[in-house]
Amino acid sequence: MSSSGTTARLLPGGPVAERVLAEVAEDVAALRAAGVTPALATVLVGDDDASAGYIRIKQRQAAELGFASPHVHLPASSAQADLHRVLEDFNADKDVHGVLVQYPIPGHLDYDRALQVLDPDKDVDGLHPMNMGRLALGLPGPLPCTPAGIEALLAFHGVPVAGREVVILGRGATLGRPLAMLLAQKRPTANAAVTVVHTGVADWPRYTRRAEILIAAAGVPGIIQPEHVRPGAVVVGGGVRYEGRRLLPDVDESCAEVAGAITPRVGGVGPTTVAMLFRNAVLAARRAAGLS
Ligand SMILES: NC(=O)c1ccc[n+]([C@@H]2O[C@H](COP(=O)([O-])OP(=O)(O)OC[C@H]3O[C@@H](n4cnc5c(N)ncnc54)[C@H](OP(=O)(O)O)[C@@H]3O)[C@@H](O)[C@H]2O)c1
Repeated sequence: MSSSGTTARLLPGGPVAERVLAEVAEDVAALRAAGVTPALATVLVGDDDASAGYIRIKQRQAAELGFASPHVHLPASSAQADLHRVLEDFNADKDVHGVLVQYPIPGHLDYDRALQVLDPDKDVDGLHPMNMGRLALGLPGPLPCTPAGIEALLAFHGVPVAGREVVILGRGATLGRPLAMLLAQKRPTANAAVTVVHTGVADWPRYTRRAEILIAAAGVPGIIQPEHVRPGAVVVGGGVRYEGRRLLPDVDESCAEVAGAITPRVGGVGPTTVAMLFRNAVLAARRAAGLS
């Protein structure tokens, strides 16, 4: 589909991430001035090129923001207990404030079990069961990065959410489910009427077509087509699948002809997710230092 028919306003994530990262850099500088060097540790298991590349990017960004970033690289043949030992060491190290285990890990290892070993206060992905529980109860703690990034993106672009009908396609643990909890919270940038649809709702387009804000979180390329979108609605593409390095989004580009505003195919939700990771890390350092 050519872009000539595009009518929707674009909602890029880049400027949102820039603003969040500028705040993170200020917080890092304040911590350093108080004698605390915030540290975000990274763990890579195995030799997957793409994962090693993502870790390098995050380490470079961590250094630019002023974080220390201790790194452990475990061989692909590592046992579950080896990974747990690394996490327990980071848990015990009071100079480490956040820990990131690069996903995916080799197939013989269990990511969810490893996540449960991590100190929830150091869980910068915000996906530890304790943090999902905190989110459900509205207690402070690290927020899941992609949902928090989507809330920030909508707020940054002046999209009102409070009181509006939000429909999320997908109830996965990293995106749809925590996003539904987040956007239903009683806060000015949330406070929405949230509906979640999934494979159990055969006629899900009935719901998406009435959404004022439609958020795709399925990971099924092209699942959202123009006929699923209410004219003038805000459409956020969170779900993606990768084929090699090729990114295949849930939201078909032609939806821009029906939507009032839409995230771009590339540079939408992704940059905000990474920014939230660093925000979680600096907030963890602030909490550990007794500053918040
Ligand atoms: N942009 C980013 O930075 C970023 C970050 C994290 C994740 N993501 C993406 O977000 C997506 C969701 O992640 P996740 O871990 O939450 O996913 P997940 O656990 O795979 O969940 C996918 C959800 O989509 C629903 N679904 C799948 N196919 C469907 C269909 N044909 N009709 C209706 N519903 C369907 C599933 O329904 P059932 O529950 O009924 O199976 C499930 O609830 C993935 O594509 C992931 O790559 C993006």
